[in-house]
Amino acid sequence: MRCRNPSFRTRSSKVSGRFSSSLRTVRKRIARHKPEIGIILGSGLGLSEASLADAISIPYTDIEGFPVKRKGHDGSLLVGSLGNRGLAILQRRFHLYEGYDVTDLAYPVKLLHGLGIHVLIVTNAAGGIKKSLSPGDFMAITDHINLTGEDPLIGFEGGRSTMSPFVDMTFTYDPDLIRLARSVGRKTGIRVADGVLAAVKGPSYETPAEIRMLKGLGADAVCMSTVHEVIMARYLGMKVLGLSLITNYAAGILQERLTHQSILEAAGKNRERFERLITGIVNEIPV
Ligand code: HPA
Repeated sequence: MRCRNPSFRTRSSKVSGRFSSSLRTVRKRIARHKPEIGIILGSGLGLSEASLADAISIPYTDIEGFPVKRKGHDGSLLVGSLGNRGLAILQRRFHLYEGYDVTDLAYPVKLLHGLGIHVLIVTNAAGGIKKSLSPGDFMAITDHINLTGEDPLIGFEGGRSTMSPFVDMTFTYDPDLIRLARSVGRKTGIRVADGVLAAVKGPSYETPAEIRMLKGLGADAVCMSTVHEVIMARYLGMKVLGLSLITNYAAGILQERLTHQSILEAAGKNRERFERLITGIVNEIPV
């Protein structure tokens, strides 16, 4: 059978060549580091390089084959240790609204998996829909609703791979990791709620009517990312923890306009709490 999705033509020399080039570049640069946990940082969220021991930062533009579309893309892969855990942190993600293909969004996850990582923490900024969520709260994602119309597994027709693209999504977000996140939240005095995340394509924010619709569908928060990375992670058998930082009330909940700038600022303001929460979680994740 033929495979139309280029990221699955793992035996085709061109594509597997591209992926192995990416992997080779990163392996060479990180030398003796053996990252065990991958983290994808959402808009405005950060972990300082200074908090990692033996940190190595690799700009995405230095990673051969990495799907960087724009010159001056400021993303980098940060590898280092936190306590006795090896981390690989993607300091910026790709979005559909930037013009990336869905397979580009999932590529960094494949790379983390290729480095031997089996636990993935995905983070994002999200608008709170459920009444009990306020800006500054964290939400452990219990489930998601992918409304982007995109799936990184589309086009997979089997090829020579024995892995099925019909991935079970029943237990997508690991219940033990959700419990762990909530328990670390209690210990550190950081509120960690839980809820269902809806993902839309963006970049326009939702209308108040769309937010009412999302609420009716069962969404507690909304973002423009994350779900495609998570689908790829589940395809590859990785354990996933998803954490949303609620940066704003979703459109129409308050009689206020949303701006990208104010959302980035809200994320920035919570950077220290985010760092404390992630550090606590990472230290307790069994690997
Ligand atoms: N909608 C979509 N994405 C978001 C929002 C929002 O309100 N806030 C942060 N990311």
